[in-house]
Formats: sequence, structure tokens, C-alpha cells
Amino acid sequence: MVRAGSVITIEARAKINLTLEILGKRPDGYHELRSIVMPVSLTDTITLTSTYAQTAMTITVSPGVDLTKIGAVDKNLAFRAARLMQESYRVNAGARIHIHKRIPIGGGLGGGSADAAGVIMGLDKLWQLHRPLEELMVLGAELGSDVPALVHGGAVLMEGRGERVRGLFDDDAPTLCEGFWLVIANPGLMCSTPDVFKKWRGGLTAGPSILHNMASSIRTSDVSAAAEALHNGLQPAVYENYPGVAQIATQLQEAGCLGVLLSGSGASVFGLARDEAHGQEIGRKLGSGLWHVLVRTCPVV
Ligand code: C5P
Repeated sequence: MVRAGSVITIEARAKINLTLEILGKRPDGYHELRSIVMPVSLTDTITLTSTYAQTAMTITVSPGVDLTKIGAVDKNLAFRAARLMQESYRVNAGARIHIHKRIPIGGGLGGGSADAAGVIMGLDKLWQLHRPLEELMVLGAELGSDVPALVHGGAVLMEGRGERVRGLFDDDAPTLCEGFWLVIANPGLMCSTPDVFKKWRGGLTAGPSILHNMASSIRTSDVSAAAEALHNGLQPAVYENYPGVAQIATQLQEAGCLGVLLSGSGASVFGLARDEAHGQEIGRKLGSGLWHVLVRTCPVV
């Protein structure tokens, strides 16, 4: 029995793809992927309050997040996640969802997917469902390709359409993994994910060394090796078709980042910093004209 008025707060983390290999087009129209995904310390805050039956959602935003980019509530992934949980588990209770957004919308940082994943995990607790993680990941895959990785959490290897996810260090967790500091910049424009995938023309060849090199640089916290191993198969198509995105990549490079990469299908770009002080220096060089934030990758497990 769920008590109305119970409250749960979740910090839903943005993600970056340190590698994103596009292995080919699938018969179902999606693309076969292989990607190392890591959550970062930029979060949306989700507050869930149990109600007797109704589900409703409100959203507030931090400066720099464009509220006009948020679509209708019934199309919102977080709201749909709540409906899906209600239907899948025949829950009589409802939930009031409030999301305070800091993650840029449509920015390739998985903000919408992170919110959906947060709602799934939060409602599992709030409604005392106690479902296994694998089952919640399968449910998440119904909402979007990035959702299972964010339900899982930590550094993951994502394959297939995005639905095959496992912890990157499941077999052998690193004893000490300091993670990386990085500066994320967003040009304030949106890249349409279907459009970006449509414009992908192959070309950038993927290979086993991409995955191997990135996994070992995360394991050893070697940021220079990670900078060398960055890979995003969607990047050429995005830089060609969205010059505003290519321009912020140049700005990050000129500000001294060790390596710069398009995040997911864009429009955000991130640059690796040597350490926190270096990240702050990069931020100062970028100035106030470009939205940017200094973040850290989250623990790998
Ligand atoms: O699954 P999701 O709704 O996030 O995907 C958005 C769009 O991105 C899809 O409609 C598809 O055009 C493209 N996509 C793809 N292959 C993937 C993931 C996404 O082609 N593996």
C-alpha cells in the first residue's frame, strides 16, 4: 500500500559518450552502435510525490536552459516513463513529478533520457515495486535508446540499438579510478537525432582498438590517453551540417582542452581537462558568451 504524500528526490545525471562507434544501419531503421557511456556530475533534480491516482508533471529550469524547447507534457519522456510504470505494474497510485532542469535540452547529453531513467528508478522505490534492474532497463528501452544505460548507471558499454548494456568493468572493477574533468559547451541550437543519423555516411572506420584504448584509459585515469581515444562516428556529419557546433569545438580546442568531442548526436561538445584547475582556466578562456559547465565523470561502478 503506497502512502500518498511520500516524497523521493533523485539527481538524474547527464551522460557523455566517450566513444560512439556506428557499426551500420539495421533492418529496423535504427543503427547498430557500440559506445562507452559515462554519467557526469551535471544533474536534473527530480522530486516525486506519491498521490492517490493522478500523475502530473511540472518543470523549472536553471539559467541557460531554454524552457521553450520542452515539448508537450504527454510527449515528455519522464512523464511517459511514469505512465509506463503505472501500466506495466498495474499501480493504482499516481505521482506528482517535478523536474528542475540544468541539463541543456536536445544537447546530446541524454537529459530527457536521464529524467526518464530517474523516474523509473524513483517510482520503483516510491511505489515499493522492487523490480530487478534488468527488468527496469528493458522497460526503459521502450522509451529511448539511451534510457537503459542511464537506468544501469556508472560507466557502461552500450551495444545494439542501445538496449544491450553492461557495466564496463563488471568483470574486474578498477581499485582506484579518479575519473576525468571536462568542460561541456552548448551552442544553444538543437541537432535533430533522426536527422543526424540520416546524414551519417560511414567513413570513419570503427575498430576494436577504440573500445579497448578508452576502457584502459578510464581504468588508469589517464586523461591524455583518453583524449587520444575519443571517437564519435556522428561527428563529421554534425560538423558539416551544423557549423555552429563545429565552431564551439574549435573554441574548446583553442581554450586548451586536451581532446574535444561531439557529445552523442550533438549539439553539445565536451573537452577534456588535465584537472579541475585546468578546467577552470578553460572556462575563463571561453568567457560568458558561450554556455559551458565544468563537470566530473561519476564513479565508474
Ligand atoms: O531511441 P531514440 O528515440 O532515442 O532514437 C531517436 C532517433 O535516433 C531514432 O528515431 C533514430 O532515427 C535514431 N537512432 C538510430 N539508431 C540508434 C539510436 C537512435 O538510428 N541506435
